[in-house]
Amino acid sequence: MSTKILTQHFNEPKLHELATYRKLGGYKGLEKALKMKPAEIAAEVAKSNLRGLGGAGFPVGGKWSTMPPADKAPERYVVANYDESEPGCFKDRVLGERAPHQIIEGLLIAAHAVSAEWAFIFIRGEYGIPFKILEKAIAEADEAGLTGKVRVRLMRGAGAYICGLDTALLETMEGKKAWPRQPPPFPTVVGLMGQPTVVNNVETLAMLPHIIVNGGDWFAKLGVLPNPEKKLPGSGGTAVYSVSGDVEKPGVYEFAMGAPLRAIIDAAGGVRGGRKVKAVIPGGASTPPLSASELDTPMDFDSLRSVGSFLGAGGVIVLDETRDMSEVAHNIERFLAHESCGQCTPCREGSEWTTRILGRMLEGKGTSGDLPNLQRIGENITGKVICALGDTVGMVTRGFMKKFPDDFKSKVPA
Ligand SMILES: Cc1cc2nc3c(=O)[nH]c(=O)nc-3n(C[C@H](O)[C@H](O)[C@H](O)COP(=O)(O)O)c2cc1C
Repeated sequence: MSTKILTQHFNEPKLHELATYRKLGGYKGLEKALKMKPAEIAAEVAKSNLRGLGGAGFPVGGKWSTMPPADKAPERYVVANYDESEPGCFKDRVLGERAPHQIIEGLLIAAHAVSAEWAFIFIRGEYGIPFKILEKAIAEADEAGLTGKVRVRLMRGAGAYICGLDTALLETMEGKKAWPRQPPPFPTVVGLMGQPTVVNNVETLAMLPHIIVNGGDWFAKLGVLPNPEKKLPGSGGTAVYSVSGDVEKPGVYEFAMGAPLRAIIDAAGGVRGGRKVKAVIPGGASTPPLSASELDTPMDFDSLRSVGSFLGAGGVIVLDETRDMSEVAHNIERFLAHESCGQCTPCREGSEWTTRILGRMLEGKGTSGDLPNLQRIGENITGKVICALGDTVGMVTRGFMKKFPDDFKSKVPA
Protein backbone atom coordinates (compact mmCIF):
# COMPACT_ATOMS: atom_id res chain seq x y z
CA MET A 1 0.00 0.00 0.00
CA SER A 2 1.39 3.33 -0.92
CA THR A 3 1.60 6.03 1.75
CA LYS A 4 1.13 9.52 0.43
CA ILE A 5 2.32 12.77 1.93
CA LEU A 6 3.55 14.97 -0.90
CA THR A 7 1.27 13.52 -3.55
CA GLN A 8 -1.87 13.13 -1.41
CA HIS A 9 -3.76 15.97 -3.10
CA PHE A 10 -2.46 15.44 -6.62
CA ASN A 11 -5.98 14.77 -7.89
CA GLU A 12 -6.92 18.39 -7.15
CA PRO A 13 -6.70 20.12 -10.53
CA LYS A 14 -5.90 23.57 -9.09
CA LEU A 15 -3.44 22.51 -6.40
CA HIS A 16 -0.82 24.80 -7.96
CA GLU A 17 -2.92 27.81 -6.98
CA LEU A 18 -2.49 29.38 -3.57
CA ALA A 19 -6.22 29.38 -2.72
CA THR A 20 -6.58 25.62 -3.30
CA TYR A 21 -3.34 24.81 -1.53
CA ARG A 22 -4.43 26.81 1.51
CA LYS A 23 -7.91 25.30 1.48
CA LEU A 24 -6.24 21.89 1.84
CA GLY A 25 -4.17 22.97 4.84
CA GLY A 26 -1.26 24.57 3.01
CA TYR A 27 0.96 27.06 4.85
CA LYS A 28 -0.21 25.73 8.25
CA GLY A 29 3.30 24.29 8.68
CA LEU A 30 4.88 27.68 8.06
CA GLU A 31 2.41 29.37 10.40
CA LYS A 32 3.38 26.92 13.15
CA ALA A 33 7.10 27.12 12.35
CA LEU A 34 7.10 30.91 12.63
CA LYS A 35 5.90 30.54 16.23
CA MET A 36 8.80 28.20 17.00
CA LYS A 37 12.42 29.06 17.67
CA PRO A 38 14.85 28.04 14.87
CA ALA A 39 16.45 25.48 17.16
CA GLU A 40 13.04 23.92 17.89
CA ILE A 41 12.36 23.46 14.17
CA ALA A 42 15.78 21.92 13.66
CA ALA A 43 15.19 19.55 16.60
CA GLU A 44 11.85 18.41 15.15
CA VAL A 45 13.44 17.81 11.74
CA ALA A 46 16.30 15.86 13.35
CA LYS A 47 13.73 13.73 15.18
CA SER A 48 11.87 13.07 11.91
CA ASN A 49 14.85 11.23 10.48
CA LEU A 50 14.32 13.02 7.18
CA ARG A 51 17.17 12.24 4.83
CA GLY A 52 18.08 14.21 1.73
CA LEU A 53 16.09 13.00 -1.28
CA GLY A 54 18.31 14.60 -3.93
CA GLY A 55 20.81 11.75 -4.09
CA ALA A 56 23.16 11.47 -1.16
CA GLY A 57 20.63 10.73 1.59
CA PHE A 58 22.38 12.89 4.15
CA PRO A 59 20.32 13.41 7.38
CA VAL A 60 18.80 16.88 7.09
CA GLY A 61 18.95 17.70 10.81
CA GLY A 62 22.62 16.71 10.85
CA LYS A 63 23.42 18.91 7.86
CA TRP A 64 21.72 21.99 9.31
CA SER A 65 23.49 21.51 12.64
CA THR A 66 26.89 22.05 10.98
CA MET A 67 26.06 25.70 10.22
CA PRO A 68 27.91 28.23 12.36
CA PRO A 69 25.62 30.18 14.74
CA ALA A 70 23.70 33.10 13.21
CA ASP A 71 25.36 35.71 15.45
CA LYS A 72 28.81 34.62 14.17
CA ALA A 73 27.75 34.45 10.50
CA PRO A 74 24.63 36.59 9.96
CA GLU A 75 24.69 36.47 6.13
CA ARG A 76 23.43 32.99 5.22
CA TYR A 77 21.42 31.35 2.47
CA VAL A 78 19.11 28.47 1.67
CA VAL A 79 19.10 26.97 -1.80
CA ALA A 80 16.45 24.58 -3.12
CA ASN A 81 18.07 22.22 -5.58
CA TYR A 82 15.66 21.83 -8.48
CA ASP A 83 18.26 20.87 -11.08
CA GLU A 84 17.03 17.29 -11.53
CA SER A 85 19.20 16.08 -14.40
CA GLU A 86 19.75 12.49 -13.28
CA PRO A 87 18.52 10.19 -16.07
CA GLY A 88 15.44 8.35 -14.84
CA CYS A 89 14.36 11.11 -12.44
CA PHE A 90 11.38 13.38 -13.01
CA LYS A 91 9.66 13.45 -9.59
CA ASP A 92 10.88 16.98 -8.81
CA ARG A 93 9.40 18.25 -12.06
CA VAL A 94 6.03 16.76 -11.17
CA LEU A 95 6.18 18.03 -7.57
CA GLY A 96 6.85 21.56 -8.79
CA GLU A 97 4.22 21.49 -11.52
CA ARG A 98 1.47 20.09 -9.32
CA ALA A 99 2.23 21.62 -5.91
CA PRO A 100 4.71 24.51 -6.16
CA HIS A 101 3.54 26.01 -2.87
CA GLN A 102 4.55 22.84 -1.02
CA ILE A 103 8.15 23.52 -2.12
CA ILE A 104 7.94 27.24 -1.32
CA GLU A 105 6.45 26.54 2.11
CA GLY A 106 9.25 24.04 2.85
CA LEU A 107 11.87 26.51 1.67
CA LEU A 108 10.48 29.23 3.95
CA ILE A 109 10.47 26.84 6.92
CA ALA A 110 14.11 25.91 6.18
CA ALA A 111 15.02 29.61 5.91
CA HIS A 112 13.46 30.25 9.31
CA ALA A 113 15.16 27.18 10.82
CA VAL A 114 18.63 28.39 9.81
CA SER A 115 17.87 32.14 10.14
CA ALA A 116 18.43 32.91 6.46
CA GLU A 117 16.83 35.93 4.80
CA TRP A 118 17.62 34.89 1.25
CA ALA A 119 16.21 31.72 -0.28
CA PHE A 120 16.91 30.59 -3.83
CA ILE A 121 15.34 27.96 -6.03
CA PHE A 122 17.91 26.78 -8.58
CA ILE A 123 15.90 25.24 -11.39
CA ARG A 124 17.08 23.15 -14.31
CA GLY A 125 17.26 25.32 -17.46
CA GLU A 126 15.10 22.96 -19.51
CA TYR A 127 12.25 23.06 -16.97
CA GLY A 128 10.31 25.83 -18.72
CA ILE A 129 6.83 24.93 -17.46
CA PRO A 130 7.82 24.37 -13.79
CA PHE A 131 9.74 27.67 -13.97
CA LYS A 132 6.60 29.59 -14.98
CA ILE A 133 4.46 27.79 -12.39
CA LEU A 134 6.94 28.49 -9.60
CA GLU A 135 7.42 32.09 -10.67
CA LYS A 136 3.67 32.64 -10.37
CA ALA A 137 3.47 30.77 -7.07
CA ILE A 138 6.30 32.83 -5.55
CA ALA A 139 4.52 36.04 -6.63
CA GLU A 140 1.28 34.75 -5.07
CA ALA A 141 3.06 33.90 -1.79
CA ASP A 142 4.77 37.29 -1.79
CA GLU A 143 1.53 39.14 -2.38
CA ALA A 144 -0.20 37.21 0.40
CA GLY A 145 2.59 38.24 2.77
CA LEU A 146 3.68 34.64 3.30
CA THR A 147 7.35 35.13 2.41
CA GLY A 148 7.69 37.70 5.22
CA LYS A 149 11.23 38.95 5.52
CA VAL A 150 12.64 36.14 3.39
CA ARG A 151 13.45 37.12 -0.18
CA VAL A 152 12.73 34.16 -2.48
CA ARG A 153 14.43 34.15 -5.87
CA LEU A 154 14.17 31.73 -8.77
CA MET A 155 17.38 31.09 -10.70
CA ARG A 156 17.57 29.18 -13.97
CA GLY A 157 20.44 26.74 -14.54
CA ALA A 158 22.41 26.76 -17.78
CA GLY A 159 21.94 23.08 -18.50
CA ALA A 160 24.51 20.57 -17.30
CA TYR A 161 24.13 17.50 -15.11
CA ILE A 162 27.02 18.61 -12.90
CA CYS A 163 25.14 21.82 -11.97
CA GLY A 164 22.98 19.67 -9.65
CA LEU A 165 25.95 18.80 -7.46
CA ASP A 166 25.73 21.25 -4.58
CA THR A 167 29.21 22.80 -4.79
CA ALA A 168 29.09 23.06 -8.62
CA LEU A 169 25.64 24.60 -8.30
CA LEU A 170 27.01 27.27 -5.97
CA GLU A 171 29.86 28.02 -8.39
CA THR A 172 27.40 28.55 -11.25
CA MET A 173 25.15 30.71 -9.05
CA GLU A 174 28.21 32.89 -8.57
CA GLY A 175 28.56 33.16 -12.35
CA LYS A 176 31.49 30.78 -12.67
CA LYS A 177 31.79 27.53 -14.60
CA ALA A 178 30.35 24.54 -12.79
CA TRP A 179 33.49 22.94 -11.44
CA PRO A 180 32.82 21.15 -8.14
CA ARG A 181 34.63 22.39 -5.06
CA GLN A 182 36.66 19.98 -2.98
CA PRO A 183 35.05 19.82 0.49
CA PRO A 184 35.72 20.42 3.33
CA PRO A 185 34.70 23.10 3.98
CA PHE A 186 31.13 22.03 3.18
CA PRO A 187 28.58 24.57 1.90
CA THR A 188 26.93 24.87 5.33
CA VAL A 189 30.19 26.51 6.46
CA VAL A 190 31.50 28.11 3.25
CA GLY A 191 28.78 28.23 0.61
CA LEU A 192 27.30 30.85 -1.67
CA MET A 193 29.57 33.91 -1.84
CA GLY A 194 31.63 32.28 0.89
CA GLN A 195 28.74 32.39 3.37
CA PRO A 196 27.06 29.48 5.20
CA THR A 197 24.52 27.91 2.85
CA VAL A 198 22.08 25.04 3.16
CA VAL A 199 21.44 23.23 -0.11
CA ASN A 200 18.52 20.81 -0.03
CA ASN A 201 16.60 19.03 -2.73
CA VAL A 202 13.09 20.34 -3.46
CA GLU A 203 11.43 17.07 -2.42
CA THR A 204 13.35 17.14 0.86
CA LEU A 205 12.14 20.70 1.48
CA ALA A 206 8.55 19.85 0.55
CA MET A 207 8.50 17.32 3.42
CA LEU A 208 9.11 20.06 6.03
CA PRO A 209 5.57 21.49 6.33
CA HIS A 210 4.23 17.99 7.00
CA ILE A 211 6.88 17.32 9.64
CA ILE A 212 6.11 20.58 11.41
CA VAL A 213 2.34 20.03 11.34
CA ASN A 214 2.36 16.34 12.35
CA GLY A 215 5.59 16.14 14.35
CA GLY A 216 8.98 14.53 13.83
CA ASP A 217 7.98 11.29 15.56
CA TRP A 218 5.04 10.77 13.22
CA PHE A 219 7.32 11.18 10.21
CA ALA A 220 10.07 8.93 11.57
CA LYS A 221 7.58 6.14 12.32
CA LEU A 222 6.17 6.19 8.79
CA GLY A 223 9.54 5.03 7.52
CA VAL A 224 12.36 2.81 8.76
CA LEU A 225 13.49 3.52 12.31
CA PRO A 226 17.21 3.69 13.20
CA ASN A 227 18.88 0.45 14.26
CA PRO A 228 21.49 1.44 16.87
CA GLU A 229 22.78 -2.16 17.20
CA LYS A 230 23.67 -2.29 13.53
CA LYS A 231 24.58 1.42 13.54
CA LEU A 232 22.00 2.11 10.82
CA PRO A 233 20.51 5.63 10.85
CA GLY A 234 17.14 4.62 9.31
CA SER A 235 15.10 6.66 6.83
CA GLY A 236 12.05 8.68 7.90
CA GLY A 237 8.82 9.27 6.01
CA THR A 238 8.19 8.55 2.37
CA ALA A 239 9.92 8.94 -0.97
CA VAL A 240 8.46 9.89 -4.31
CA TYR A 241 9.74 7.59 -7.06
CA SER A 242 10.03 8.30 -10.76
CA VAL A 243 9.31 4.92 -12.35
CA SER A 244 10.32 4.46 -15.97
CA GLY A 245 11.65 1.89 -18.43
CA ASP A 246 9.83 -1.32 -19.25
CA VAL A 247 6.72 -0.83 -17.14
CA GLU A 248 3.09 -0.49 -18.18
CA LYS A 249 2.46 2.84 -16.43
CA PRO A 250 5.58 4.98 -16.08
CA GLY A 251 5.00 7.82 -13.63
CA VAL A 252 5.46 9.18 -10.15
CA TYR A 253 4.59 6.95 -7.16
CA GLU A 254 4.98 7.71 -3.46
CA PHE A 255 5.72 4.99 -0.91
CA ALA A 256 6.79 4.83 2.73
CA MET A 257 10.52 4.28 3.20
CA GLY A 258 11.18 0.54 3.39
CA ALA A 259 8.47 -0.51 0.89
CA PRO A 260 9.68 -3.41 -1.26
CA LEU A 261 10.92 -2.54 -4.73
CA ARG A 262 8.43 -5.07 -6.10
CA ALA A 263 5.48 -3.01 -4.77
CA ILE A 264 6.71 0.08 -6.61
CA ILE A 265 7.00 -1.84 -9.90
CA ASP A 266 3.53 -3.32 -9.33
CA ALA A 267 2.10 0.16 -8.74
CA ALA A 268 3.49 1.11 -12.15
CA GLY A 269 1.48 -1.69 -13.71
CA GLY A 270 4.25 -4.29 -13.71
CA VAL A 271 6.60 -5.14 -16.56
CA ARG A 272 5.37 -4.16 -20.00
CA GLY A 273 3.96 -6.89 -22.23
CA GLY A 274 3.96 -9.48 -19.42
CA ARG A 275 7.72 -9.93 -19.74
CA LYS A 276 10.05 -10.70 -16.83
CA VAL A 277 12.31 -8.25 -15.00
CA LYS A 278 15.99 -8.63 -15.78
CA ALA A 279 17.36 -5.68 -13.85
CA VAL A 280 16.24 -2.60 -11.96
CA ILE A 281 18.25 0.57 -11.51
CA PRO A 282 16.81 1.72 -8.17
CA GLY A 283 17.85 5.34 -7.69
CA GLY A 284 18.58 6.95 -11.05
CA ALA A 285 21.14 6.08 -13.73
CA SER A 286 24.11 6.63 -11.44
CA THR A 287 23.12 3.87 -9.00
CA PRO A 288 24.29 0.24 -9.46
CA PRO A 289 21.64 -2.20 -10.74
CA LEU A 290 19.77 -4.90 -8.86
CA SER A 291 18.91 -8.25 -10.42
CA ALA A 292 15.50 -9.96 -10.59
CA SER A 293 16.32 -11.92 -7.43
CA GLU A 294 16.51 -8.66 -5.44
CA LEU A 295 12.99 -7.32 -6.01
CA ASP A 296 12.08 -7.78 -2.35
CA THR A 297 14.78 -5.34 -1.26
CA PRO A 298 13.24 -2.64 0.98
CA MET A 299 13.57 0.77 -0.64
CA ASP A 300 15.36 2.87 1.96
CA PHE A 301 18.86 4.29 2.23
CA ASP A 302 20.38 1.62 4.49
CA SER A 303 18.82 -1.43 2.80
CA LEU A 304 19.99 -0.43 -0.66
CA ARG A 305 23.49 0.18 0.61
CA SER A 306 23.50 -3.30 2.10
CA VAL A 307 22.94 -4.77 -1.39
CA GLY A 308 25.63 -2.59 -2.99
CA SER A 309 23.45 0.12 -4.45
CA PHE A 310 21.85 3.44 -3.44
CA LEU A 311 18.39 4.92 -3.12
CA GLY A 312 19.83 8.00 -4.84
CA ALA A 313 17.08 10.27 -6.08
CA GLY A 314 14.52 7.47 -6.41
CA GLY A 315 14.68 7.04 -10.19
CA VAL A 316 13.51 3.45 -10.63
CA ILE A 317 14.38 2.21 -14.14
CA VAL A 318 12.97 -1.22 -14.93
CA LEU A 319 14.74 -3.30 -17.59
CA ASP A 320 13.05 -6.39 -18.98
CA GLU A 321 14.48 -9.74 -20.05
CA THR A 322 15.10 -8.58 -23.64
CA ARG A 323 17.62 -5.91 -22.59
CA ASP A 324 21.36 -6.28 -23.01
CA MET A 325 23.13 -4.82 -19.98
CA SER A 326 26.28 -3.94 -21.90
CA GLU A 327 24.13 -1.64 -24.05
CA VAL A 328 22.59 -0.09 -20.94
CA ALA A 329 26.04 0.45 -19.39
CA HIS A 330 27.27 2.02 -22.65
CA ASN A 331 24.30 4.35 -22.76
CA ILE A 332 24.89 5.58 -19.19
CA GLU A 333 28.67 5.89 -19.58
CA ARG A 334 28.19 7.88 -22.81
CA PHE A 335 25.96 10.29 -20.89
CA LEU A 336 28.54 10.60 -18.08
CA ALA A 337 31.39 11.16 -20.56
CA HIS A 338 29.37 13.95 -22.14
CA GLU A 339 28.59 15.47 -18.73
CA SER A 340 32.02 15.10 -17.08
CA CYS A 341 33.13 18.65 -16.27
CA GLY A 342 36.72 17.71 -17.12
CA GLN A 343 38.28 18.97 -13.90
CA CYS A 344 39.62 15.56 -12.73
CA THR A 345 41.71 13.55 -15.20
CA PRO A 346 40.49 10.07 -14.12
CA CYS A 347 36.84 11.05 -14.75
CA ARG A 348 37.46 13.07 -17.92
CA GLU A 349 39.63 10.41 -19.59
CA GLY A 350 38.17 7.32 -17.92
CA SER A 351 34.60 8.11 -18.95
CA GLU A 352 35.70 8.53 -22.58
CA TRP A 353 37.73 5.31 -22.62
CA THR A 354 34.99 3.30 -20.93
CA THR A 355 32.47 4.57 -23.49
CA ARG A 356 34.81 3.80 -26.40
CA ILE A 357 35.61 0.28 -25.23
CA LEU A 358 31.95 -0.57 -24.63
CA GLY A 359 31.02 0.96 -27.99
CA ARG A 360 33.67 -1.11 -29.76
CA MET A 361 32.45 -4.27 -28.02
CA LEU A 362 28.88 -3.56 -29.13
CA GLU A 363 30.08 -3.21 -32.74
CA GLY A 364 31.51 -6.73 -32.55
CA LYS A 365 35.09 -5.48 -32.29
CA GLY A 366 35.78 -6.50 -28.68
CA THR A 367 39.23 -7.75 -27.73
CA SER A 368 40.34 -10.18 -25.02
CA GLY A 369 41.75 -7.30 -22.95
CA ASP A 370 38.53 -5.28 -22.86
CA LEU A 371 36.89 -6.69 -19.73
CA PRO A 372 40.00 -6.49 -17.50
CA ASN A 373 40.60 -2.99 -18.88
CA LEU A 374 37.07 -1.85 -18.06
CA GLN A 375 37.51 -3.21 -14.54
CA ARG A 376 40.89 -1.51 -14.10
CA ILE A 377 39.74 1.84 -15.50
CA GLY A 378 36.74 1.82 -13.15
CA GLU A 379 38.92 1.03 -10.13
CA ASN A 380 41.20 3.93 -11.06
CA ILE A 381 38.37 6.48 -11.09
CA THR A 382 36.11 5.76 -8.10
CA GLY A 383 37.50 7.37 -4.95
CA LYS A 384 40.17 9.26 -6.88
CA VAL A 385 38.15 12.25 -8.04
CA ILE A 386 36.60 15.33 -6.46
CA CYS A 387 32.93 14.52 -6.93
CA ALA A 388 30.39 11.72 -7.07
CA LEU A 389 29.92 12.05 -10.84
CA GLY A 390 33.42 10.64 -11.27
CA ASP A 391 32.78 7.96 -8.66
CA THR A 392 29.75 6.95 -10.70
CA VAL A 393 31.73 6.72 -13.94
CA GLY A 394 33.90 4.11 -12.25
CA MET A 395 30.97 2.23 -10.72
CA VAL A 396 28.38 1.88 -13.48
CA THR A 397 30.09 -0.60 -15.82
CA ARG A 398 31.62 -2.58 -12.97
CA GLY A 399 28.17 -2.81 -11.35
CA PHE A 400 26.60 -4.19 -14.53
CA MET A 401 29.57 -6.53 -15.22
CA LYS A 402 29.32 -7.97 -11.72
CA LYS A 403 25.60 -8.76 -11.89
CA PHE A 404 25.27 -9.59 -15.60
CA PRO A 405 28.68 -10.96 -16.68
CA ASP A 406 27.32 -12.94 -19.64
CA ASP A 407 26.11 -9.80 -21.43
CA PHE A 408 29.73 -8.58 -21.44
CA LYS A 409 31.57 -11.87 -21.98
CA SER A 410 29.51 -12.50 -25.11
CA LYS A 411 31.01 -9.35 -26.72
CA VAL A 412 34.69 -10.37 -26.43
CA PRO A 413 36.64 -13.40 -27.74
CA ALA A 414 36.42 -16.35 -25.33
C1 LIG B 1 26.52 14.81 -10.57
C2 LIG B 1 25.55 15.11 -9.47
C3 LIG B 1 24.32 15.69 -9.78
C4 LIG B 1 23.42 15.98 -8.76
N1 LIG B 1 22.22 16.52 -9.12
C5 LIG B 1 21.31 16.82 -8.15
C6 LIG B 1 20.06 17.40 -8.50
O1 LIG B 1 19.75 17.62 -9.67
N2 LIG B 1 19.20 17.68 -7.48
C7 LIG B 1 19.52 17.46 -6.16
O2 LIG B 1 18.74 17.77 -5.29
N3 LIG B 1 20.70 16.92 -5.82
C8 LIG B 1 21.60 16.60 -6.78
N4 LIG B 1 22.82 16.08 -6.42
C9 LIG B 1 23.11 15.94 -4.98
C10 LIG B 1 23.55 17.29 -4.41
O3 LIG B 1 24.96 17.42 -4.54
C11 LIG B 1 23.21 17.45 -2.92
O4 LIG B 1 23.66 16.30 -2.23
C12 LIG B 1 21.71 17.64 -2.69
O5 LIG B 1 21.17 18.69 -3.42
C13 LIG B 1 21.49 17.92 -1.21
O6 LIG B 1 20.13 17.94 -0.92
P1 LIG B 1 19.43 16.81 -0.07
O7 LIG B 1 20.33 16.56 1.11
O8 LIG B 1 18.12 17.37 0.28
O9 LIG B 1 19.35 15.59 -0.96
C14 LIG B 1 23.74 15.73 -7.41
C15 LIG B 1 24.96 15.13 -7.11
C16 LIG B 1 25.84 14.81 -8.13
C17 LIG B 1 27.12 14.14 -7.78
